[in-house]
Amino acid sequence: MHYIDLPDFVHELVALRPLSRADAAAWYAYLTMPRVLDHTSWDLRSMDDLMQKFDALESLDPASEIRLAIVRHDSGALVGTIGFHSISLLHKTVEIAYDLAPAVWGKDIAPAVCNAVAEWGFSYLGAVRIQATVLDSNTRSIRVLEKCGFQCEGLLRSFRMVRGHPRNFWIYSRLDLRVTEA
Ligand SMILES: CC(C)(COP(=O)(O)OP(=O)(O)OC[C@H]1O[C@@H](n2cnc3c(N)ncnc32)[C@H](O)[C@@H]1OP(=O)(O)O)[C@@H](O)C(=O)NCCC(=O)NCCS
Repeated sequence: MHYIDLPDFVHELVALRPLSRADAAAWYAYLTMPRVLDHTSWDLRSMDDLMQKFDALESLDPASEIRLAIVRHDSGALVGTIGFHSISLLHKTVEIAYDLAPAVWGKDIAPAVCNAVAEWGFSYLGAVRIQATVLDSNTRSIRVLEKCGFQCEGLLRSFRMVRGHPRNFWIYSRLDLRVTEA
């Protein structure tokens, strides 16, 4: 991984730390639950598919994907991940992505962590624009983005194949208003 400082993030239930291969089994266990899978573009057929993701995450390329683990304070168990992909150093843009295990849904973790990581994207990574693409059916994630100050920019029609089917995604963005004009 090519970052040094973790985002400032304080929450009564969870903390952030770097994601590692040791988290793969716990991550895979909830990513493949239908409730999680249904509204994402993940297409995991086996743990091997997920392990390939770690090859990219361990790259030292400064434009490579970044993913952090969201872990419980009490047990240390992995209950989510969050990070950036599609990082453009030239344009100072990144795309945010996150997921939580259903056991911790509805506890206000997602907006808190999304907000903290977005702030970190601006201040630490120097991004001027953070975008998010979200399946049109993903009402929970849409609400999280709106609560974190992301603005909807439109519908991307048949933007990604999702397990064999072309699907529409909303595109949202949040700008660093200290250095950009909305
Ligand atoms: C997206 C995700 C991280 C959100 O976490 P969460 O804990 O469910 O989020 P929260 O409970 O804090 O917020 C969800 C919001 O959606 C609302 N919501 C929940 N179910 C809803 C539904 N069926 N329809 C409309 N809104 C709904 C909640 O009321 C809440 O809004 P509120 O705080 O204004 O009441 C989590 O659901 C998840 O990991 N999903 C699977 C992976 C995923 O979708 N990742 C994002 C890909 S873009």
